[in-house]
Formats: sequence, C-alpha cells, structure tokens
Amino acid sequence: MRLIFLGPPGVGKGTQAVKLSQKYGIPHISTGDALREAVARKTEIGLKAKSYMDKGTLVPDKVVIGIIRERLARDDCRSGFILDGFPRTVKQAEALDEILKAMGVELDAVLNVEAPDGVIIERLSGRRTCRSCGRVYHIIYVPPKREGVCDVCGGELYQRDDDKPEAIARRLQVYKEQTAPLIEYYEDRGKLRRIDGSKSVDDVFRQITGLLEGEKTDYEKEEG
Ligand code: AP5
Repeated sequence: MRLIFLGPPGVGKGTQAVKLSQKYGIPHISTGDALREAVARKTEIGLKAKSYMDKGTLVPDKVVIGIIRERLARDDCRSGFILDGFPRTVKQAEALDEILKAMGVELDAVLNVEAPDGVIIERLSGRRTCRSCGRVYHIIYVPPKREGVCDVCGGELYQRDDDKPEAIARRLQVYKEQTAPLIEYYEDRGKLRRIDGSKSVDDVFRQITGLLEGEKTDYEKEEG
C-alpha cells in the first residue's frame, strides 16, 4: 500500500496516518516529524530548517526531497509507505514521481483530507505534542489522561511554535498558494480521493479504511 496524505495544516493527516500505519504495519513518513527531529538534534538540516518552520513557510524543496529519497530507499518501505506532509509543491511531486519510477512502483491513492478553515484553526490552536515521542493530543478532542503529560511515555506536552496564531495564518496561506495545486496534479493522474476531515477521528478513519477496502468515501457517495 503506497499512500499520500494531502490536506491543509492541522486537518488531521498525522493523526490518521499513525492509525493507518498501526493497522496495516507500514511505515508512516512525515517530513514535519523528520524536520522537527533534526531541529531538536541541531543537525545541519535542522539548523537550516528551523527559521522556515517557525515562520510557517516551506523548507526548500531540495532539503525535503533529499530526506524522502533517503527514507524511501530503506528496506521497510518495500511493502509500502504512508507519506504525510510530502509532497507539498509541484516540484516535490515531480521529484517523487521520479523516485517511484526508479523504484518500479506506483502510488495507490492520494487522500485529500478537507475541512473548513475554522475547524483547522481550532484544531491547531488546541494541539499539544509530546516532546519525547511526538504523540499528538488535542486539549478538547484528544485529551491526555493527565494534563500536560503524554499517556504513552510520560513526556512533557508542549505547544509547537508554529501552532501560534501568526504562524497558523501564514501556514494556511502557504498551503493555498503552494500545496493546493497538487489537488489538480493528482486528480489529473486519477489518484485523488476526497475525505471529509471535519468529522470525528474515528469517523474519518472509517472513511479511509472503507476506501482502501473498495468503498466510496462520504463525499463520493454524496456526489453519486
Ligand atoms: P507538518 O508537521 O507537516 O505540519 P502540517 O502539514 O502543517 O500538518 P500538521 O502536523 O500541522 O497537521 P496534521 O494535518 O498532521 O494534523 P494533526 O493530525 O496533528 O510541517 C511543519 C512544517 O515543516 C511546515 O510548516 C514546513 O515548514 C516544514 N515542512 C514539512 N514538510 C515539508 C515539505 N514537504 N516541504 C517543505 N517544508 C515542509 O491534528 C491537528 C490537531 O487536531 C491535533 O491536536 C489532533 O489531536 C486534532 N485532531 C486530528 N483529527 C481530529 C478530528 N477528526 N477531530 C478533532 N480533532 C482532531
């Protein structure tokens, strides 16, 4: 199974990708997580990426394409992968096409998770992330058992710098200008599937697993 999660910041791509990865036992590859890890470890890539990420703008294509090229070459990607947050520009999508061609594989589907801006802003403003294991919570919708503490590893929960209001607005604008054109890119290639991301975590997961088992998504049912 080779999937891409597309969709605006905070729509729930990472939440769903983690659940799918656990259900099907295939790697979840998030460029955002890889970059945050590089920032925390103060590697060369991390030092370069930090200022872009804090502002809510995109890290240069060359850097993220390098990360993905290296990651997809690992053995665990032979049985499939879930890409989350990559590609984010047409240039990245074209580079991915070349990488997959060289691997002799094709994408199964590109899942475009959609929700109105108001829902996205509420989700991002309430998100808390574990500093140790990266697990994601929401203060209202996915609360930890103990406030400020990760259920899984006991790590400290923090608010990402780019989840503050100015950075959220910038990320939504960057998404509309640079990433939304990928909807047409994958529609033209017959890979795009639309998911209603405004529903609960379980309901969104039901739509995704349903489509992977050959069913129509909620939007596709509405469209007939
Ligand atoms: P990245 O980490 O990829 O950020 P993003 O795309 O903005 O996505 P998010 O992680 O913010 O949101 P998500 O959709 O995964 O939502 P989540 O599941 O967490 O990238 C960060 C930065 O890195 C970028 O700005 C850029 O600088 C750089 N970068 C990364 N990739 C790059 C690339 N390819 N090229 C260039 N630069 C790149 O959910 C959000 C919240 O909602 C959580 O609190 C969650 O608990 C809650 N929630 C989730 N689903 C639901 C639901 N159904 N109902 C209620 N609450 C929900």
